[in-house]
Amino acid sequence: MTEQLVPEHHELKTYYPSSEAVQRARISGMDAYRKLVAEAEGDFEGFWARLAREHLAWNKPFTQTLDASGAPFYKWFADGKLNVSYNCLDRHVEAGKGGKTAIVFEADDGTVTRVSYGELLERTAKFANALKSLGVKKGDRVVIYMPMSVEGVTAMQACARIGATHSVVFGGFSAQSLRDRIQDAGAVLVITADEQRRGGKALPLKAIVDEALGLGGCDTVRNVVVYRRTGGDVAFHAPRDLWLHELVAGQSATCAPEWVEAEHPLFLLYTSGSTGKPKGVQHSTAGYLLWAQLTMLWTFDIQPDDLFWCTADIGWVTGHTYIAYGPLACGATEVVFEGVPTFPDAGRFWKMIQDHKVNVFYTAPTAIRSLIKAAETNAAVHPRNYKLDSLRILGTVGEPINPAAWEWYYEHIGGGRCPIVDTWWQTETGGHMLTPLPGATPMVPGSCTLPLPGIFAEVVDEAGHDLPWGTGGILVIKKPWPAMIRTIYGDPGRFKKSYYPEELHGYYLAGDGAIRDPHTGYFTITGRIDDVLNVSGHRMGTMEIESALVSHPIVAEAAVVGRPDDLTGEAVCAFVVLKRPVPTGEEALQIAQELRNHVGKEIGAIAKPRDIRFGDNLPKTRSGKIMRRLLRTLAKGEAITQDTSTLENPAILEQLARTH
Ligand code: WTA
Repeated sequence: MTEQLVPEHHELKTYYPSSEAVQRARISGMDAYRKLVAEAEGDFEGFWARLAREHLAWNKPFTQTLDASGAPFYKWFADGKLNVSYNCLDRHVEAGKGGKTAIVFEADDGTVTRVSYGELLERTAKFANALKSLGVKKGDRVVIYMPMSVEGVTAMQACARIGATHSVVFGGFSAQSLRDRIQDAGAVLVITADEQRRGGKALPLKAIVDEALGLGGCDTVRNVVVYRRTGGDVAFHAPRDLWLHELVAGQSATCAPEWVEAEHPLFLLYTSGSTGKPKGVQHSTAGYLLWAQLTMLWTFDIQPDDLFWCTADIGWVTGHTYIAYGPLACGATEVVFEGVPTFPDAGRFWKMIQDHKVNVFYTAPTAIRSLIKAAETNAAVHPRNYKLDSLRILGTVGEPINPAAWEWYYEHIGGGRCPIVDTWWQTETGGHMLTPLPGATPMVPGSCTLPLPGIFAEVVDEAGHDLPWGTGGILVIKKPWPAMIRTIYGDPGRFKKSYYPEELHGYYLAGDGAIRDPHTGYFTITGRIDDVLNVSGHRMGTMEIESALVSHPIVAEAAVVGRPDDLTGEAVCAFVVLKRPVPTGEEALQIAQELRNHVGKEIGAIAKPRDIRFGDNLPKTRSGKIMRRLLRTLAKGEAITQDTSTLENPAILEQLARTH
C-alpha cells in the first residue's frame, strides 16, 4: 500500500484555504500554526499548563503540569480539581448564556427539539440526583446503552457530574458483547431505552439488556434505568428496572457538582485490539476535557454563532469527544441526530444541513462514499438539490479518505469553498492528533497533513529510529499529551505492552502505518499494522471474529482477514474449516448465512463477515502458524505470488481460492 501512495501524492492537487477562511480562523495562517508548535517545543509543560489554565474552569488550580515518574502511566495537572459537567454546562449558564441552544435534536421521523444550556443543566442535575438516589457514587461504573438522544448525552453528563465513570456501549452491539463490557467494568447500573428508532424501524435495546444480564456474571448491576423512547412493549423486572421519567420526576433541579481530581476516570470505552477481548480504554477528566475543547476551537474553528454537526454515535469515541463533551465545553450549538443517512432517502444529511443551516459538518468517509453512490444512481438525492451554503468547514474521521471521495466532498458538499479537515486520531488519543487546520494548512486529498501543536508525531522503524520522509513505517507519538489513554481498565500490563513496547523506548505506538511526503513532510496513514480491521470506520479485532466463529458447534477453525472494499474501506473475509466435509452450492450458502448470523449474535451486526470461504484446512507453516499474508491475497481474489515454500499444505490455497 505504501508504495502506491507516494506517486499518487505527487499527482494530487494542493488545495489552499481561502483568504477569508484564513482571516477568520483562530489559528490564522501557517505562521500562527508554527508559532504554537514552537511554543510547545520550547516549553512543553508551560505550553500545556497555559492552555489548561486558559480554557478550563478549575475548582482547585493545579500546581504540577506533568508527572512522568510512573511513565508510561503519565499524570497531568494531577493536584487540580474540577468537574466536567460544570465546565460543559454551569459555566455557560453563569456567563449569562443559559438561553442559548445547546442541542438541536432531530429525531428519525424529522421531529426537531431544541434544548438550551439552562434546560440541559437542569435535566442533567435531575438525572444526577436520580443516580444518587439509586446509590450511585463517585468512582462507580455505569454502562450506558442508549440511542442517539438528548437523554443519552444527559446520562453521560450526569455521570460526570457525580464522578461516576461511564462506559457507553454502542447500540448495535449484541447481548453477549454488552454482557462482556458490563462484567469487565463491574458496572452497578445500566442506563438504556425501551427501543431505538432508526430508519423508520423500532429496534430493541431493553430486551438486549435483559438478555445480557440473563447470561450471568453481572451480579454487580443493581438497577436498570429505562428511557421511554418509542413506548414499545418491554418486560419490566421490579424492583431492578426503573423508568427514567418516573425516577427524575421528583428530583431537585439543582445538583452540586462533585469536584474530582484531574486524573479521575471520566469514562471507559471498549475498543478492539489485535489480541483477546475488547479493552476498556480509560480516560481522565482534565486532560481529556482540555483536548476535547481545544480541538473544537483549533480543528473546527468553532465560533459562538456556529451550528456544529458531528454525525457519529455516542457509542464511539467520536461521539464522546465531538458530541457529548467538546461542543458543550466550548458553549457551541450542535445537532444531535437519531436516524440514519439513508432515511427517508439518501438526501437526509444534505436536507438537514440545509434546514438547520449547519456551519461545520463532521462525518465518516464511508458515509460520504455511500452517499456519492446514492447520488449517482438517484438524481433526486444529489446534493445539488440542496442549499448548502451555510457550510464553512467540513471534516472526516475514522478511516482513510480516498482522494476521489475527498474531491467530491470538497466540490459537491463544500462548494469548493470549505476546507476539509481529515482528522486522524483514535479511541486512545481522546481527540484529534494529525489534521489540517481550516485557516492554515494547505490540503492534499488523502493526507491528514500535520500534527496539532503539542503533538510530537513521527514515522519510525521497528527499532524506534526515525525514518526519512518518503519511507513508510510505524506511526508513533514521541511525547505524552494530556488527552492520552491512561490505562486499560483492570489490565495495566496490557496497556504497557500494547502502547509502550520496549523496543520503541517510550514512544506511544498507535498501531497504524504511515508515510511522510518527501517534500512537505505531510503524513498519510497507510492502515493498521496489527490485526485490527476498519470496516466503515468501525474498529474490530480479527481475533474477536475468529472466536465468535469457532464458538459455533460446527466450526473447527477460522481465520479472519480484511480485504479492501470501495464502500466500507475494508470488508471482513473469513476462512472456515468445519467439523464436517467442505460444503458446496446451496448448502455452503446456507451454512455461511448461519455463521454470519452467529457472529451477529456474538458480537453485533457490524462484525458479520462479508465473505465466508470453506476449506479442509488453513494455510499453515510447518510450526502450525496460519499464514495470514496468503489469506489476504486470496481474499482480494488475487493470484498468490508470494513465497510459499514454508507452507506445509500448499494444495489448500487452490481450494480456498474458490469463492462460494
Ligand atoms: C483509523 C476513531 C486514516 C486508524 C476516531 C486508527 C484513520 C483507527 C483516520 C482508530 C484518518 C481514524 N485517516 N485512518 N483520518 N481516523 N483512522 O479508535 O486506523 O475507532 O488507528 O477512533 O481508525 O479508530 P477508533
